[in-house]
Amino acid sequence: MTQLSTQPYKGTRDFFPADMRFREAMFAVMHKTVQSYGFEQIDAPIIEPIDIYLAKTSEEIVSQQIYSFTDRGERKVAIRPEMTPTVARMVAARFQETPKPIRWYSIPNVWRYEQPGKGRLREHWQLNCDIFGAPSEKLADLELLNLAIDLMRGYGASESHFKLYLSHRGILNGVLGGELKLPQEKWPAVARIMDKRAKIKPEAYAAMLAAEGVGEDKRQELDLFLNEKLDYIKKKSHLEGASYILETMQSLEEIGLSAYVEYDPSVVRGFDYYTGLVFEVFDAHPDNRRSLFGGGRYNNLVGAFGKESTNAVGFGMGDVTLEDFLRTHKLLGDVPRKVDLYIALMSDDFAPHAMNLANTLRGRGLRVEVSLGATKLGKQFQEAEKKAIPRVLILGEDEVKSGVYSVKTLATGEQVKLKATEI
Ligand code: HAM
Repeated sequence: MTQLSTQPYKGTRDFFPADMRFREAMFAVMHKTVQSYGFEQIDAPIIEPIDIYLAKTSEEIVSQQIYSFTDRGERKVAIRPEMTPTVARMVAARFQETPKPIRWYSIPNVWRYEQPGKGRLREHWQLNCDIFGAPSEKLADLELLNLAIDLMRGYGASESHFKLYLSHRGILNGVLGGELKLPQEKWPAVARIMDKRAKIKPEAYAAMLAAEGVGEDKRQELDLFLNEKLDYIKKKSHLEGASYILETMQSLEEIGLSAYVEYDPSVVRGFDYYTGLVFEVFDAHPDNRRSLFGGGRYNNLVGAFGKESTNAVGFGMGDVTLEDFLRTHKLLGDVPRKVDLYIALMSDDFAPHAMNLANTLRGRGLRVEVSLGATKLGKQFQEAEKKAIPRVLILGEDEVKSGVYSVKTLATGEQVKLKATEI
């Protein structure tokens, strides 16, 4: 028989205890921060009918990255590549009876058939925060931006560690359609080239644009749009989204967040469903300059599930990019094990006493591991030490009879005698 591999499937991770502790510590900040804004947690199946992705997700995800199959009942299904269509489906299912605005979050695992690399895997976990049905879209956008920044601050990050770049889909559409007079079918290709601008040579950039009908005059206008940033939209206030961005920047300043935020016209985001605000949070570290997470407004997705249409805004924050960020900036290190006490046995006969005592201590909130075999005491001490358990209680005949226990602190060697109520 051939030997089976111990490696997980390509582009996925096993989570051994230390990995799991780190992941849970990351998630703990997420739960705490988003709940402090009144968000409620949801979850859903990992498999969905493939249709929910076909209409509005990005072309790249649907044609190249989706894990899909036909089930035994001939249904075409997909493993979720993202959570947004699922959340929209759930909102549509309970729209009437749910008090608005709806603030929901989830931390699903999502799957994409990608070429694995730094910050990019085939399975990742993704915090999703979304707001539906706010009376004011602008206020919902502001709250979400505030939350995105607060999450980062929850990990101890400051404005020197990251930056949130925002834009509005309407501005880019207005520039491409209005100022450059490009037919709409060219917009996605041009947006993709713009996205590559920083990574390719100017000649290559110009040639690629020319191939899409953006000659020199139009390219100069595009450069003004990209380089002049806020000054450009101040001049072109007729563009949809221009005054929105100017007002939003003003409000962010009043909230005290302007140090974290910048308007960046090159922020596009890959999904077809975004309709307004789009944003992307970047690491500011020179070794890790990459997008950490992002999101935007998508007002037409819930309506695709039938009766009600509602405005929506949200973001997705992946655990892989977040972990890189936290480790690069030393904001969250290895998370130690948390067991308070190890009960060592002089004889297996004392195990019932030990388990009884452990139950009492656990009832008082202590974490207690009981030895599962009275090997030599030295060996049991070693076990406690290897597992980083700080204290050992030794259970022998005297202790069982007297109800007074010796508890040793491994780091100092200090030993004290305590009754059960004193431990
Ligand atoms: P997205 O930009 O595709 O947006 O993914 C959001 C985040 O998930 C990324 O910024 C990154 O942190 C992480 N991520 C995505 N793909 C991978 C991957 N292959 N490996 C590791 N991490 C990855 C969305 O998915 C939208 N549905 C977010 C959203 C929620 N928009 C509105 N609400």
